[in-house]
Amino acid sequence: MFNLAKMLIIFMYLTSICCFFISSQNVSSPQDILYTYEEPIDGLKLHDTHTLSKGTLMIWMTFDDDKDPSCMLPYFYLRLIERTGRITYINLNYTFPPEAVCPISMDFIPLNYNYIMVIYVKSNNGVKGKYGLIINYESEIINEIYLGNVNDYIIDSGRLEKGFIRIEEHDKKGATLHWLSIPDITTGKVVEHGSSEFIVPNQLSYTFVNSFNFNLIDGGIGYAYILKYDEMGSLATNDPNIQYWKIYVSFLREGTYLPTTPSLVYQTTTKLNSVVFNSCTYNNGVGYICIVSLNNTITNRNESRTEVNYYRLDFLTTGAFIQFDMIPKEISMDVFDFSSLIYGGFLVRKYYTNTTAMDFSILDNNGNYKSGGSFGPEFVHTNMFSRNGTLLGIKKQIGNKLEILLKPLLRLNNQGAEYDNPVIESTKPAIHEFIDSSINEITIKYAIPVRLSTANISIFQLNGDPYKPNLLRQTISGNSKLCTVGSDNHTVHIPIFRSSFNQPNASYHVIIDNNFVISQERNEPLLGINEETWMFSTKPFKAGQHSVSVTGSLRLNEEGSSKFLQSNQSEFFNNIIQAFSKIIPVDQQRITTNGKWKNDPTSPNKVLLSFTINEAKDAIEPNSKTIFDNLGTLVEKKGFTALSINEYTSLIDESASFVITQDYFGKYLPVIIISLVSLIILAILYFLARWKSPEGRNFAIFETALIMQDLAVDLTFTLLRVNNTPHLIVPNMVFLIVPLIVNFLLAINIFLSEVDTNPMFFTWVSELPTLLLPICAIFSSIDILAINTLTSNLFGLKVFSAPLSQRSRKIILWGSFINIFAEDIPQLIIQILYYNSVETYDLIPSLVLISGGLVIVNKLILRSYHAIVRWYHRRDKIRNFIRRLSAASIRSLRSNV
Ligand SMILES: *[C@@H]1O[C@H](CO)[C@@H](O)[C@H](O)[C@H]1NC(C)=O
Ligand SMILES: *[C@@H]1O[C@H](CO)[C@@H](O)[C@H](O)[C@H]1NC(C)=O
Ligand SMILES: *[C@@H]1O[C@H](CO)[C@@H](O)[C@H](O)[C@H]1NC(C)=O
Ligand SMILES: *[C@@H]1O[C@H](CO)[C@@H](O)[C@H](O)[C@H]1NC(C)=O
Ligand SMILES: *[C@@H]1O[C@H](CO)[C@@H](O)[C@H](O)[C@H]1NC(C)=O
Ligand SMILES: *[C@@H]1O[C@H](CO)[C@@H](O)[C@H](O)[C@H]1NC(C)=O
Ligand SMILES: *[C@@H]1O[C@H](CO)[C@@H](O)[C@H](O)[C@H]1NC(C)=O
Ligand SMILES: *[C@@H]1O[C@H](CO)[C@@H](O)[C@H](O)[C@H]1NC(C)=O
Ligand SMILES: *[C@@H]1O[C@H](CO)[C@@H](O)[C@H](O)[C@H]1NC(C)=O
Repeated sequence: MFNLAKMLIIFMYLTSICCFFISSQNVSSPQDILYTYEEPIDGLKLHDTHTLSKGTLMIWMTFDDDKDPSCMLPYFYLRLIERTGRITYINLNYTFPPEAVCPISMDFIPLNYNYIMVIYVKSNNGVKGKYGLIINYESEIINEIYLGNVNDYIIDSGRLEKGFIRIEEHDKKGATLHWLSIPDITTGKVVEHGSSEFIVPNQLSYTFVNSFNFNLIDGGIGYAYILKYDEMGSLATNDPNIQYWKIYVSFLREGTYLPTTPSLVYQTTTKLNSVVFNSCTYNNGVGYICIVSLNNTITNRNESRTEVNYYRLDFLTTGAFIQFDMIPKEISMDVFDFSSLIYGGFLVRKYYTNTTAMDFSILDNNGNYKSGGSFGPEFVHTNMFSRNGTLLGIKKQIGNKLEILLKPLLRLNNQGAEYDNPVIESTKPAIHEFIDSSINEITIKYAIPVRLSTANISIFQLNGDPYKPNLLRQTISGNSKLCTVGSDNHTVHIPIFRSSFNQPNASYHVIIDNNFVISQERNEPLLGINEETWMFSTKPFKAGQHSVSVTGSLRLNEEGSSKFLQSNQSEFFNNIIQAFSKIIPVDQQRITTNGKWKNDPTSPNKVLLSFTINEAKDAIEPNSKTIFDNLGTLVEKKGFTALSINEYTSLIDESASFVITQDYFGKYLPVIIISLVSLIILAILYFLARWKSPEGRNFAIFETALIMQDLAVDLTFTLLRVNNTPHLIVPNMVFLIVPLIVNFLLAINIFLSEVDTNPMFFTWVSELPTLLLPICAIFSSIDILAINTLTSNLFGLKVFSAPLSQRSRKIILWGSFINIFAEDIPQLIIQILYYNSVETYDLIPSLVLISGGLVIVNKLILRSYHAIVRWYHRRDKIRNFIRRLSAASIRSLRSNV
């Protein structure tokens, strides 16, 4: 690549060539813009330009061949200057054959998104043919295809995303049209969608003279046939009613491959020399206007002269004739060009034979002069952005610099300027508005009464990368029944799927194809809205509730099911997951599968595939419930979303919805079993302990198990769950850490006071391996109760036979009571709050809560039992003491007596 900084120098400045000098109009006209394009490669010269309706200027640069001025060097360079000023440089590393460049037999057409096709002539085994080299904006060669005979010609279909057309003309018989697809996104392969034939109407004693084709704005081409009466051998030559010339038009639209029946739009009894079509342009909402020249020889007594007159022939897209009017002589002098302007009126351009200068004028719909101007002889090339009515002139190249002048034409009507469409009054949302993701419709208000037609309205999420296609959110055809026209006949309502605006802070644009609506008055297709025009963004979202993983199943249609069964199934799953992640769009990690599938019991020819939407790792990611719902919506509306375009996702059966299939007894079976088993073990331990040791000392192991379970639940919750609910993080930490510290301090206190006052304890400690002490300390800070284990005499081990004093046992007892209320119950409440604020579909939360509750209940029972035992113990002691006391006093009384 070239150094961007060096080559990207565009000087844009406004030249205030004031309206006073250009014309005497008092209508304020927008200002001209002059800018300079500097070509980074020395020696490249302007060859030609091409304008796209979205406002991109394509400049074809070539190296002259010094030896032969009619040739050029066999390379291809194209510069794309977008509306935003961004320049794309295409420098193709490819050497074209001599047949393509000497003489120049090369051209290019833009294809869909970043594809361009260079069309050139090449000899193969001595036979010249037409070839197409498909390249992209990154100067990569995608594919080379054979297009056909060298005399065939290639035109775009009027809608870049509808592919292109190869026309094969047959002498005197008509033409065959081959409708070719857009290049496949990965292989660049182009296939023929279909072909059709324009057959000359079979009219006795008429011969086909010529034809003319023109692009239709709704995709497709129009074909005009010129037929001439065949005088030879006819006896009726003197019949004054003979129509000497007839003009028919026929239309071919994508998808039908069957041209409409030719309709007669003009016929004349005058014996003209010739009838020639010069141009045909779309006349906003009223069909097409063709400029036809009639060459007539007028014989006046002994004098005869030949004159050529120009006419405009207007007809509707149904082939219905509107008018055939002569264009005034003062306009049709010299070489001229007459076209309809989108914003009303007509543009007449005049060219000269001795200079490159060009004059232009704007006429209103009645043909009255409104405004005009000219490009002087210093301009060597002119072109036009017809969509926004701007003429473009390029001055003679000086060195590497091209000066480009844009002259916006006078608009007779400036409505809908921001949409580049005068029939659009307003839209909701407006351009650049920030919208809520939950809106359920968008609307377009037209300036005239409309009806819905067959073309699509599509919404894309913009990715900001000119080399990548934008992400289709939804596309609805006007006649799909989903769109409606309001009772005012002006407003069109388009429903928005919940999955469409599912990204926060994202930019979207709506593309309305031409012929999405037709005018009510004439049923003629109306223009739509080009890309990157009706743009708006979503607001940042509020973080939604967290939700855990969710598993659901999707059904494949019959075709998909048989494909799935025949292919590598894990690869199939992978491909489908990849497509989901692009289309939803969501990180690929969020969608997984356990690879499970089964035949649908209700429809045995179809298979059900299982997918899991994994839970979000942080609050920025969308929650799994949202993703699940989005995917469900995409499936439900498959025909209107990108799912139907992808090779794999198009096999999904949209008649079965994406349903949650939480497989409790599969995925969670181990958890359930472990929980049940541990409950049973606990119960057994409990009764064993009770039965063996009525004093309850050997409850210690049971208690320790409880404590460990409690700790495991709390830690799991803290590490894996609580982050999903930011408002619970701090309380959770407080109720986790504060009790830890308190327990630790209590344990230290017990230890120090025991060491200090209890010689037996001291001996016990000094005989312990040193490593055990910190473990005991950590253990006891989890719950002071754990110290009980050390005194339990468990398994007769020395380590479990710490001789604790009564004071310490008391601290432990009351400390563990405090733990229940300061730690366990708050933790349980936090967990209840947590599971209330996240969406879950599984048993885990209930298990966690049940276990938390059990821990508390158990602790309470045990502690109360201990307390009661202690209390009884003490009461017995007091009783004994009293008994002993009374016995002693009785004895002493007796002895005294
Ligand atoms: C333009 O000026 C003419 C007279 O020069 C006047 O009749 C006409 O109303 C003016 N139009 C506008 C739009 O001001
Ligand atoms: C028309 O489109 C061209 C190319 O995008 C742009 O440079 C020009 O400013 C536009 N003119 C108007 C009047 O919008
Ligand atoms: C052009 O292509 C050829 C082979 O196709 C390659 O060897 C060469 O390096 C390429 N040149 C550049 C500048 O990319
Ligand atoms: C008109 O037709 C005559 C006779 O065919 C021909 O000589 C003449 O060149 C034509 N004029 C134009 C301008 O085509
Ligand atoms: C008719 O032709 C004759 C001679 O060829 C000429 O004198 C006469 O002026 C012509 N008439 C007209 C009306 O041109
Ligand atoms: C070009 O020809 C026209 C008449 O056809 C003439 O008025 C004009 O002066 C010529 N211009 C040049 C630059 O020769
Ligand atoms: C509308 O979109 C659908 C789906 O992308 C497509 O199949 C159809 O051809 C489109 N219709 C038109 C008229 O472009
Ligand atoms: C809308 O169009 C319908 C059918 O063409 C017509 O009956 C109705 O009166 C129109 N409504 C308005 C408000 O113009
Ligand atoms: C969306 O934009 C807002 C403000 O511009 C920003 O604070 C927020 O982080 C953005 N959110 C995302 C998901 O990019």
